[in-house]
Amino acid sequence: MSGKGVILIGSPKPGRSTSLSIGEYLKTKLKGHGMEAVIENVGGFLKNENGPDDLVKLIQDHDQIILIFPLYVDSLPWPMTRALEEIHARGDLDNIKGKGLSSIINCGFPEASQIETATSICEMFARRMGMKWMGGLMLGGGGAISGNALESRGFMVRNVKRSLDIAAGNLSRGEKISDKAKRLMEKKLIPHKLYTAMGNMGWKRQGKKNGVDLDAAPYAK
Ligand SMILES: Cc1cc2nc3c(=O)[nH]c(=O)nc-3n(C[C@H](O)[C@H](O)[C@H](O)COP(=O)(O)O)c2cc1C
Repeated sequence: MSGKGVILIGSPKPGRSTSLSIGEYLKTKLKGHGMEAVIENVGGFLKNENGPDDLVKLIQDHDQIILIFPLYVDSLPWPMTRALEEIHARGDLDNIKGKGLSSIINCGFPEASQIETATSICEMFARRMGMKWMGGLMLGGGGAISGNALESRGFMVRNVKRSLDIAAGNLSRGEKISDKAKRLMEKKLIPHKLYTAMGNMGWKRQGKKNGVDLDAAPYAK
């Protein structure tokens, strides 16, 4: 079994996102395993009245639906929530039943466990729609990728790439994403202390650029 896949990117960022970097890499790996996949941005389907129906048609036309998005406030970002709500609002869609649904979520905090609730939301959606839940991959410290191609991030993303390669094999064969792929994705990219130090430096740099003093404590005595 190979079939066709659709990778739905849910990052609200207008340009490059970590979600897109993951989606592009996964697409090449799926192709290597014999599955053709297209990448679409869910936000694009929310801009006009017919968009949600087009999104439903897209899903009906594919075998594996892979949601890739960032964690926002322990949950799904608005475009992904809205897209799922629009699909759900269309009721009992026979020709969506049995399709595979999986999620790949990245977050800004270093611990992948932050993503468990959002993964459960995707699983719940799959069950409500009668889809087959294929599993979810969770990546902490997504800021270390920051929209760069995974191929350019070297050793740091070796486990992310291995995880996606295994998951691509699983999905192209119609299997659930394996525990090995899940474990590899949850491994830390860099030591947590280093990630936090780099994050703090980044915030300070942005503050300076925008004329904001991050150490300001105007209400302190
Ligand atoms: C409004 C907003 C809410 C966020 N909420 C969380 C959160 O609850 N937990 C977390 O770890 N990261 C959070 N983040 C960080 C993003 O998940 C992180 O920057 C991610 O790598 C962005 O991925 P993307 O490039 O695919 O959009 C939030 C970011 C924004 C802008």
